[in-house]
Amino acid sequence: MRHVLLFVLGLAIGAIATANIVGALRQRDAYPRGLMNVMQHDAGVLHQAARSNRCDAAATVALDQLRSLSAGIETAVYGTDPADPPFAEYAQKMRTAIPSTLDCKSLAADLRNTDAACDACHRQYR
Ligand code: HEC
Repeated sequence: MRHVLLFVLGLAIGAIATANIVGALRQRDAYPRGLMNVMQHDAGVLHQAARSNRCDAAATVALDQLRSLSAGIETAVYGTDPADPPFAEYAQKMRTAIPSTLDCKSLAADLRNTDAACDACHRQYR
C-alpha cells in the first residue's frame, strides 16, 4: 500500500513539474512568437493591398508597423544578450528589404523581396 501511495505521489509531482516547465518555455517564446505573428499579419495586409491594388490607410499602418516591429527582432529573440552575428545580419537584411514607402505599383515586387528576407532567416533559425 505504501509503495502504491509513493508511486502515485511521484507521478503527481512529475506531472506538476512537467506542466511548470512547459509553461515556462511557452512564456519565454511568447514575445518572439507574438512579434512574428503580428509581422505576418502586417505582411498579409500588404499582400492583400497589392493584389487588390488598393493601398489605403490600413496598408500604410501595416507597413509602418512592420517596419517598427522589425527593429525589435533581435531583442525579442535574444533579450539582453547580443544576437548571433548571422542572425543580426538576416534581421538587418530584412529591414532593408521592407519598402520605405507605400507604392502600390511596385508593392507586389517589393513584398517578394521582403518575403525572401523572412524566409532566409527562418531557414536557419526557426
Ligand atoms: C532574423 C531572423 C528572422 C527574420 C528576419 C524573420 N523571422 Fe520570423 N521567426 C524567426 C524565429 C527565430 C522564429 C521562431 C520563434 C519561436 O518559436 O520562438 C520565427 C517564427 C516566425 C513565425 C511563427 C511564429 C509562431 O507562432 O510560432 C512567423 C509567422 C514568422 N516568424 C513570420 C515572419 C515574417 C512575416 C517575417 C518577415 C516580415 C519574419 N518572420 C522574419 C526569425 C526571423
